[in-house]
Amino acid sequence: MNVDDVDSITVLGAGNMGHGIAEVAALAGYDVVLRDIEDEFVQQGYDKIEWSLNKLAEKDRLSQEDADAALARVSTAVDLAEAVADADVVIEAVPEKMAIKKEVYTELEEHAPDHAVFATNTSSLSITELSEVTARPERFCGMHFFNPPVRMDLVEVISGAHTADETLDLVEDLAESMGKTPVRVRKDSPGFIVNRILVPLMNEAAWIVHAGDATMAEVDSTTKYDMGLPMGSFELADYVGIDVGYHVLEYMHEVLGDAYEPCPLLSEKVEAGDLGQKTGRGFYDYE
Ligand code: CAA
Repeated sequence: MNVDDVDSITVLGAGNMGHGIAEVAALAGYDVVLRDIEDEFVQQGYDKIEWSLNKLAEKDRLSQEDADAALARVSTAVDLAEAVADADVVIEAVPEKMAIKKEVYTELEEHAPDHAVFATNTSSLSITELSEVTARPERFCGMHFFNPPVRMDLVEVISGAHTADETLDLVEDLAESMGKTPVRVRKDSPGFIVNRILVPLMNEAAWIVHAGDATMAEVDSTTKYDMGLPMGSFELADYVGIDVGYHVLEYMHEVLGDAYEPCPLLSEKVEAGDLGQKTGRGFYDYE
C-alpha cells in the first residue's frame, strides 16, 4: 500500500491528541472516524475539532468553506469494529499506559482489515513491545504528533524492531500529505527524541521549585523570555497534561534509571486530578 491508496483513517482516542490528529487528517482530505469508549468522550473530541476549525477560519488560516468540508469528513463511533471496518490506517492515541494500549491493540487486531497499518501516537512507550501483541508487527510503527497537532509541524516516525521499511515510507508520506515534517527515529528508545529532551526539562523545572531554589513564575519567565521557548515549563506541562508528562517520566525512570525520577510536585498534581488546562487546574488555574 502507498499513500495514494489511503482513503480512510481511524483515530482511536478523542482526547487532546486524538481529536487534533483527526482534525489534521480531515484537513488533508481523508475520511476520518474518531473513536472513543464513550459517546460523551467522542462528542467532546468532535466539538473541539469544530471549535478549532472555526478558530482557524476566524484567524484566516483557512477558509470557512474548507473548515466546513474538513468537519464533514469526520464521523464518530464508539463501537471498535464499526470504527475500523474501512480503515486503511489506524492511528492510536489512547492513554499513555502500556497495559491500556496493549488491550486496545489486542481488540483492534480482531476487527481491523488485514491490509491496515497501525500507527501509535505514544509519547514514549516501546513500539516493538506494542507491535508484538498484534499479528502485523511489520505494519506497525510510531507516528508521534505534538500538541496542538494542527499547529505543530513535526511528526516523529518511529521504527519498531519488526517495522518494514515500506510501513515507515508510507507513514512518512502520510505525515507529509498532512502538511507535516516527518523525522524518522531509528531507535525505539523511551521518549524517542523530543520527549527524551523535553520531559526531563519539565521535570527539572519542577525539581528546582520543589527544592525552593526558585518560584514557578521565575522558572516560567526564564524559559519563556530568556530561553525563547513559546511557553514556560509549567505552562507547557499544564497545556500537554501533567499526567502525560508524568507517565512518560515514569516509563523513562523504569527503563533508563534514576536520572528520570519524577518530581513529587508532578505526582501530587496527578494524584489530586489537577492535570492542567483540561481539568481547569494544574500548576495554574484556568477556571
Ligand atoms: N486550534 C485552533 N486555534 C487554536 C488552537 C487549536 N488547537 N489552540 C490555540 N488556538 C488559538 C487560540 O485560541 C488563540 O486564539 P485567540 O487569540 O482568538 O484566543 C490563537 O490560537 C493563538 O494563536 P497564536 O499563533 O497567536 O498563539 P501562539 O503564537 O502563542 O501559538 C502555540 C500557540 C502554537 C500553541 C504556541 O504557544 C506553542 O507553540 N506552544 C508550545 C507547544 C509545544 O511545545 N507543543 C509540544 C508539546 S510536547 C508534546 O505534545 C509531545 C508529548 O508527547 C508530550
